Amino acid sequence: METKRTTLIACALTALAMQAQAAPDTAVGNKQGFNTDVIYQIVTDRLVDGNSANNPTGSAFSPGCTQRKLYCGGDWKGIQNKIDDGYLTGMGITAIWISQPVENITAVLNYSGTNSTSYHGYWARDFKRPNLAYGTLTDFTSMINAAHAKNIKVIIDFAPNHTSPASATDSTFGENGRLYDNGTLLAGYGSDPSNFFHHNGGTSFSNLEDGIYRNLFDLADLNHNNASVDTYMKAAVKTWLDLGIDGIRMDAVKHMPFGWQKNLMSYINGYKPVFTFGEWFLSENEVDPANHYFSNRSGMSLLDFQFAQKVRQVFKDGTANMTSLNQMISDTSGQYAHVSDQVTFIDNHDMPRFQVAGASGRKLEQALAFTLTSRGVPAIYYGTEQYMQGTGDPDNRAMMTSFSTTTPAYQMVARLAPLRKSNPAFAYGTTQQRWVNNDVLIYERNFGNSVAVVAINRNLSTATPISGFIAGLPAGSYTDVLNGLGLGGNNITVAANGAVSNFTLAAGAIAVWHFNAAATAPKLGHVGPNMSAPGKTITIDGRGFGATQGTVKFGATTVSGANILSWEDTQVKVLVPSVAAGQYNVSVVTAGAVSSDNWGSFEILTGPQITLRFVVSNATTSPGENVYLSGDKFELTNWSETAPLGALFNQVVYSYPNWYTDVSVPASTTLSFKFLKKSANPTVWEGGSNHTFTTPASGTATVNVNWQP
Ligand code: NOJ
Ligand code: NOJ
Ligand code: CA
Ligand code: CA
Repeated sequence: METKRTTLIACALTALAMQAQAAPDTAVGNKQGFNTDVIYQIVTDRLVDGNSANNPTGSAFSPGCTQRKLYCGGDWKGIQNKIDDGYLTGMGITAIWISQPVENITAVLNYSGTNSTSYHGYWARDFKRPNLAYGTLTDFTSMINAAHAKNIKVIIDFAPNHTSPASATDSTFGENGRLYDNGTLLAGYGSDPSNFFHHNGGTSFSNLEDGIYRNLFDLADLNHNNASVDTYMKAAVKTWLDLGIDGIRMDAVKHMPFGWQKNLMSYINGYKPVFTFGEWFLSENEVDPANHYFSNRSGMSLLDFQFAQKVRQVFKDGTANMTSLNQMISDTSGQYAHVSDQVTFIDNHDMPRFQVAGASGRKLEQALAFTLTSRGVPAIYYGTEQYMQGTGDPDNRAMMTSFSTTTPAYQMVARLAPLRKSNPAFAYGTTQQRWVNNDVLIYERNFGNSVAVVAINRNLSTATPISGFIAGLPAGSYTDVLNGLGLGGNNITVAANGAVSNFTLAAGAIAVWHFNAAATAPKLGHVGPNMSAPGKTITIDGRGFGATQGTVKFGATTVSGANILSWEDTQVKVLVPSVAAGQYNVSVVTAGAVSSDNWGSFEILTGPQITLRFVVSNATTSPGENVYLSGDKFELTNWSETAPLGALFNQVVYSYPNWYTDVSVPASTTLSFKFLKKSANPTVWEGGSNHTFTTPASGTATVNVNWQP
């Protein structure tokens, strides 16, 4: 009796002590956002062949992976082996992103003499069935369970833009893009009476509309305006959500209608919200407002190509300097409403691998260190930690060469990754530059009183004396987190005013110093999903919410006690209140009436949504003038004249003077709307009375009207 009691007290004391230090939060599925995670991107066919019995046979398979456009045997069992043997957790990995898991074509295609297969998973045939070369559904579930047992989340690639390569004239090429519904043929590209596919030819990618409604390369492009395609895709996503996935990487989001994708996200967020990030490829120095709008308004985040391309220029190619790296961080923080939700990376399966033959590995280590300590959700491409090389597809997707746990990159990631869970400055902090020149960047991340400071000297031959460096760290001595790894960093001493004693940052050095403070006030780290609807659950992560239940506010509306589902010091779950649709500031108020900061641009939709195609005919415009859409719902911009929806498209599905756009709008609702012409000239609204349309309960619809002069 006595002993037991002492143990209980000891436990209680330990718990208190841990709370004071902000205990690392590791439970899988606990967070809607992935800011505290590090993702490992896996090309499933290329990590480990865990079961040779499921390997494709004949010309589709390359023993030894010498022909990298063929299947090489990697599978879910192989991934599970690396989860079970601790390779991933040893590196601090807490999430994996795997190839699209769905059934793909088995045909071997010949492109200019090279045999090519669907090993990459992007040539789907049946989105509701598994790719048997990766394993059975039992293997998939087993892998998920193994991952969850080690607190690793599982993200699937998903590519609803298209099925597989098809020819409009030769139906014998490949599998003619045929789409199946759990084994039942729905349509082929050459025999498509119900228009499951677009038949608008290929694209030059010169404008957004072409890229959406024409074929991406020779891939049979799905028509999401077709209600059967819409229903099918939602059911397919549900299949994988029900199997326990924790996240989705959405392929080719630049090539699908914005409105349909927003609608898909409203479905996912309403059913089982999982962190979802899209792939919108940007080239070096490309900054695209449409990319920002997508991230800010679609309900999903994006892979942060602006970040990746700049990091590659600065550390890999030497074509940009540290000032421009810092500029990218500052630019993106204004362009993305929630920059910390964008997924950062330094290479992937569509770019040359970061490691260049003959180059110092330190460049890769610096780029990785920068990524792991910056805002966003870091993703590491498999094999980058082994310095794998390969300049283009398919050489950048070779079979994993080694599972060494002693490479400097592996060991460095192992030190840095856990900091994202233990110190909120890494996961959630703002970023400010503290010292910069051509080669050196010292930046600081701040979250409440928690601080992280990182110094990198990308010049591999010249050290830099650092003076006049003021840090936001409390006075004291700070040990470089990377000490002992041979990465050249040093310890620092900080005076009471933040002045750091002069030191020399060694050539090629990477140093990380940090201070983890207990919260003294409520502070928001993440609110997700960022697009929701009344009655749906959202998760708020941060620090200092207190042990006693307080409240949550959406704008001026306070959530009722009954709608607070759970309350912890670092996490609160609530149901979205029944407020008018719109964009809101979300904040947490402690039991002691202390308010947190605001999480802005939180989008609340009217309710369940459908995708509606608006078409307006005979809307002639003068040069420079375009047609826009506005109406009486938040989803239609509430009659905004300054920021209506558009400009509408007028070239592919309908042609000028006819215009169209796909919009996610409330289901079972009567909408009032009008079109407007905008340019440098005064806006011209349609005349007459408002158009009206009553939307169906589910699926898709099209409304076609004439411009009213
Ligand atoms: C982008 C993917 O990352 C790429 O590898 C793929 O070929 C295309 N989308 C088409 O799915
Ligand atoms: C907003 C009004 O509420 C609507 O009825 C009208 O048609 C448009 N503005 C255009 O004037
Ligand atoms: Ca295999
Ligand atoms: Ca498309």
